[in-house]
Amino acid sequence: MENSVIGDDRHMPDRLDHELLDAGGGRRLDRFGERIVDRPALGAGGRVRDPEAWERADLRYDRGRGWRAGPRWHDGSQDAQSPWTISMGDLSLELRPSQTGQVGVFPEHASSIAWLRRQVLLSGAEGRDRAEGGDGDDGTPGAADAHPVRVMNLFGHTGLATLALAAAGATVTHVDASRPAIAQARRNAGLSGLADRPVRWIVDDAVAFVEREERRGQRYEGVILDPPAYGHAGRQPWRLEDRLDGLLRAVAAVLDPESGFVLLSAHTSGLSADTLGSALAAALGPARERIESGTLTLSARSGARLEAGWFARIGVRSGSARGGGGGHGGRGGRAGSVGGSHGPEDAR
Ligand SMILES: C[S@@+](CC[C@H](N)C(=O)[O-])C[C@H]1O[C@@H](n2cnc3c(N)ncnc32)[C@H](O)[C@@H]1O
Repeated sequence: MENSVIGDDRHMPDRLDHELLDAGGGRRLDRFGERIVDRPALGAGGRVRDPEAWERADLRYDRGRGWRAGPRWHDGSQDAQSPWTISMGDLSLELRPSQTGQVGVFPEHASSIAWLRRQVLLSGAEGRDRAEGGDGDDGTPGAADAHPVRVMNLFGHTGLATLALAAAGATVTHVDASRPAIAQARRNAGLSGLADRPVRWIVDDAVAFVEREERRGQRYEGVILDPPAYGHAGRQPWRLEDRLDGLLRAVAAVLDPESGFVLLSAHTSGLSADTLGSALAAALGPARERIESGTLTLSARSGARLEAGWFARIGVRSGSARGGGGGHGGRGGRAGSVGGSHGPEDAR
């Protein structure tokens, strides 16, 4: 299993309307488009590097106090808590301060977008190849159109990953227990010009939904999941550390066993890149040799670094239909380069 840092902003898409300005003292300072936001952050253990930057915050969140406007809006001339829009590559996202101190996007996931899009293209080519029983295409744009790639996004929140997948040609099932989060995700689809794409928007408990899909015999070419530390199954609260193995077993049951891709990320203290990788290996078994794991890291303009969670992932196994699972010939070689954490695909 490879363990490396990929969540670095060197790998983020161009035209990203976000930058981490500084982090330290248990807080992070982000610029999201036109607004600078100061919030608590578990991974911001070091010292603040640029104290003056923090004085320019437009919004500050404190647990117990909620949101407060910064100096620019002290005169009440604008509502600092009104929604605003930013672009992430070719996607547009509406942001709005939530009661829990979030703004509607987790920028550390931007580093996974190029990888996800690549998986959709490779999976589409792979499916077409399997259907035709020949050498097929090699992951070029259009291949996914030829063979729809079904991806399930559990805990999908406001839709960043769902929209990136849909833009790449996937048919996406987006699941989130929060009705307002789904409503925001749908608005983001409209803002991004993707409202007509094949996305199923499901308000449900992710665990219950994936188990139902398993009973119905549904299969997906890809599953991504970014579970929170605490969730609810019906009225029953659960802790991720207690539920992760069961959740991944259910994911394994709905995943295309030959070439399916998986991206798991988490931000729960007590977990690590290794625990996520091991959990994925235990659930996915035969795919374990393709597992990579690492830290989702953002580097700030000030020079500070913020660890914002961990990921473990398995890329598409190209060539499985022909080569008996090895994936070493033809397109299999290209899939191998996707698996490299520092491969050029991540940098796009
Ligand atoms: C950590 S966020 C996911 C962030 C998302 N991957 C993104 O990048 O935008 C957690 C999301 O899980 C949802 N959630 C919490 N418990 C859930 C459950 N049991 N089933 C489905 N969604 C749940 C929340 O509503 C929230 O939108």
